[in-house]
Amino acid sequence: MADVNYAERIPNNVNLSEDRRLQRALEHWQPRYLDWWREMGPVESLRDDVYLRTAVSVEPGGWAHFDYVKMPDYRWGIFLEPRDDDRVIPFGANKGKPAWQEVPGEYRGTLRRIIVTQGDTEPASVEQQRHLGQTCPSLYDLRNLFQVNVEEGRHLWAMVYLLHAHFGRDGREEAEALLVRRSGDRDNPRILGAFNEKTPDWLSFYMFTFFTDRDGKYQLCALAESGFDPLARTCRFMLTEEAHHMFVGETGIRRVIQRTCEAMREHRTDDPEKLRALGVIDLPTVQRYLNFHFSVTLDLFGGELSSNAATFFTAGIKGRFQEEKLADDHVLLDAQYPVLQVEDGRLVERPSPAVNALNERLRDDFIRDTDAGMARWNKVARSHGVGFAFRTPHKAFNRRIGIFAGLNVSPEGEVLSAEEWRRRERGFLPTAEDRAYVQSLMGRVVEPGRFANWIAPPAKGIEGLPLDFEYVRFA
Ligand SMILES: [Fe+2]
Ligand SMILES: [Fe+2]
Repeated sequence: MADVNYAERIPNNVNLSEDRRLQRALEHWQPRYLDWWREMGPVESLRDDVYLRTAVSVEPGGWAHFDYVKMPDYRWGIFLEPRDDDRVIPFGANKGKPAWQEVPGEYRGTLRRIIVTQGDTEPASVEQQRHLGQTCPSLYDLRNLFQVNVEEGRHLWAMVYLLHAHFGRDGREEAEALLVRRSGDRDNPRILGAFNEKTPDWLSFYMFTFFTDRDGKYQLCALAESGFDPLARTCRFMLTEEAHHMFVGETGIRRVIQRTCEAMREHRTDDPEKLRALGVIDLPTVQRYLNFHFSVTLDLFGGELSSNAATFFTAGIKGRFQEEKLADDHVLLDAQYPVLQVEDGRLVERPSPAVNALNERLRDDFIRDTDAGMARWNKVARSHGVGFAFRTPHKAFNRRIGIFAGLNVSPEGEVLSAEEWRRRERGFLPTAEDRAYVQSLMGRVVEPGRFANWIAPPAKGIEGLPLDFEYVRFA
């Protein structure tokens, strides 16, 4: 079951060849997917040989194979964690009943919407990142970008498999539409706001993979608990790949910070102007980028109090982070959860029905995780004798969705007047000058072993390979 059949056109561990109708449907979708990749995937990369990992099984020890591959030839496949026939629905009103192997009729529309929304983020991020290869800071980073891109492509496959296998004609139509929407398009944009933003430079890319791929992790973790077993098993395997995406973000930002700290120490200065003259990214600019990406990503979790979230949970469709490890009744009929509210222009925490506060709870889990990342970056600064401390902004800062939308809250959590916000905004969010400066650093470094001046080399290469390995061979 866990073995992958690579002889087939679509590698899979779901016995695709035994379901000819499904196989044909996916083989019909495959060339359209490749058309989409050629049109919207990384620019000018189709003939390059890239040292990539490809999923070859779902075994924890040896699930990936590394080799050179041209991205259009990447073996995008369908991999689900093995099925446990005894699995029961772990939460909600259906708790304890056998997990569903087919979509229950009453939840069909809801499940389809959730799968489509998750699926839509995958090609969206590839589209957002498609120009970055032209300004890569090294071959190592270029390879990592392409690795993230092909795996987001595979995540699209994962969701499209569910749509084709379980949602009939509606599912096939949704699978087509996933290849038609475009990130940032005025008429036919991607579904979620953050996936229509631009990713114009590599600092933004690292922020995106640190914050927004981490939102992906939390959404996948919640869906990995689902009573709809094929969705749970798909998401579990996607999480294996997602870890690398967050690694790219975390280490990318760490290397930017390290390089800046080296320059600060060497030149005994924390003056942003002097540091910019040295060609590195001053730490307050890094913090402003971080503020932006953090707040945009928080919106992805949805409204603080949400009847949709309550419905998903009660139905057994979407659980909490690490649901099965939580020590409560997993039904939450009488439980409360503290939720920050706005009262008379002040922010106050109020106990709310836990079942309505599940978006907020998942957002809080995410914030704890990002806080831990800040602590690791601050260690880098301290080790260079730099006093600057990165902080995650207040959760009400710069929000567009939920109860804080329309409120002006500083990164420290003070509620500001509109006028005060305007006066101080330049200190909170990247300015046009910040963005232009970061953009000005984006050259293209593709000599093996060389790294752009604004970023330190990584601690080690991919899979034990040296830093000067030729991670991408250009056609
Ligand atoms: Fe993904
Ligand atoms: Fe990802």
